[in-house]
Amino acid sequence: MCLFLHFILKNNICNLKNSLSYNFTMKEKFLINGGKILSGEIEVEASKNAYLPILAGSILCDDEVTFLNAPYFTDIENMCEILKILGVKIRRDGEVLSLDLHNIKNEKISHEHTNKLRASIFLLGPLLAKFRQASISYPGGCNIGTRPIDIHISAFKSLGVKIVERHGYIYCNAQNMRAGKVVFSSISVGATESVMMSAVLLKGKTTLYNVAREPEVKELANFFNAMGAKISGAGSDRIEIEGVKRLKGVSFKVFPDRIIAGTHLLLGAMLGKNMRVIGARREDNEILFNILKECGCSLEEDEMGATISSNGKYNACRFIETLPYPNFPTDLQPQFMAFQTLGKGTSVIKENLFENRFNHVMELVKMGADIFVKDRLAIVKGVEKLYGADVFASDLRAGAGLVLAGLVAEGYTTISNIEYIDRGYERLEEKYARLGADIKRVKE
Ligand code: UD1
Repeated sequence: MCLFLHFILKNNICNLKNSLSYNFTMKEKFLINGGKILSGEIEVEASKNAYLPILAGSILCDDEVTFLNAPYFTDIENMCEILKILGVKIRRDGEVLSLDLHNIKNEKISHEHTNKLRASIFLLGPLLAKFRQASISYPGGCNIGTRPIDIHISAFKSLGVKIVERHGYIYCNAQNMRAGKVVFSSISVGATESVMMSAVLLKGKTTLYNVAREPEVKELANFFNAMGAKISGAGSDRIEIEGVKRLKGVSFKVFPDRIIAGTHLLLGAMLGKNMRVIGARREDNEILFNILKECGCSLEEDEMGATISSNGKYNACRFIETLPYPNFPTDLQPQFMAFQTLGKGTSVIKENLFENRFNHVMELVKMGADIFVKDRLAIVKGVEKLYGADVFASDLRAGAGLVLAGLVAEGYTTISNIEYIDRGYERLEEKYARLGADIKRVKE
């Protein structure tokens, strides 16, 4: 315990030093001249939300891991920066990202890094599994709600981890961590993934109940199993992990990002003329595929993706609510709302997951949308047209929703704070410009 306290003290001093450093970056915005019909092919990048835990979980291997399709999202770059602190040697050659994991060390993860990336919390489980001790500053991330981490913490505690929360840090001692049973009090994607990672190398069987069923959880299990782990049940509500002694190196390709696929399909539903989205898979987005068809959009599926066309007229979807997978994803709610602003009729959208996830509403209203918000409900009455305006992206997906609105609106739109959009979309403006959109990245 004495060593543990020493660890806490050392980390607080480092935290103070880091909080004194500042990062000035040149601001950029999107300038959009809306109303252009979009056609051609667009390819969906690999899933950000699968990559983030997978990158963190890589440190459980002490060999080399190669990713064959790593996108240039700032969230991925930020995770790589944290991995470097832990001693990972990283090489990038285009989309190929190689991690040399031979010399991993246990370092504090300071506020400077966790502030940029909520997914930094994913390092806690792997660090505990590897070093039996870890400390990490509370994670930051997009401004969509309070986003506590109590479910992660109580799950670790139920495996025997001792945790002290002090001065904005979480200090963990896992000397007595044992395989066992974890029953999650409510469904959390991140907590499911965190605990899965902490149990991969634990001797014996760990069973997780009431877990998230998101495709990203399944992909994390696929990644570990490819390295020799024994995880079964991912994708259902119960996961079993039989601990193994070590993980071997691997080359891995992550599945396409279902939220980006959904964003492109929604854009195509407003402006597409035979717009083909390669990597849009019904299996990951069943509910969206069904809704688009119900709204009257033409959507044709093939083995590589889906082609969408719009005649600019579609029905409003009467009611959707965001809930854990396989229900409607909260990460598509702002883009879906942008789509609904022009639907024929009235649509009711209920946001159940994050309390601040209607920040885009005011911006859409500036563009002529008719939206009324009461608590977690947004009532969207379809209008004839949106008009260009100067708007602000308050978070990643809100920003994506505004891009869709700007592209369909009449006249010029500027979108500020696009660094949020870059967290999870790769040069979105270039990709949409190739389809015929008039969108540019300009200095503020
Ligand atoms: C992940 C996704 C995020 C997505 C979200 C919901 C990644 C990197 N991010 O986030 O894009 O919007 O799933 O699909 O995969 N909660 C608690 N305590 C906790 C953890 C969560 O109360 O300890 C609450 C959250 O505030 C939220 C709900 O549980 O209301 C679900 O959150 P969770 O599934 O954990 O989301 P993330 O893993 O953070």
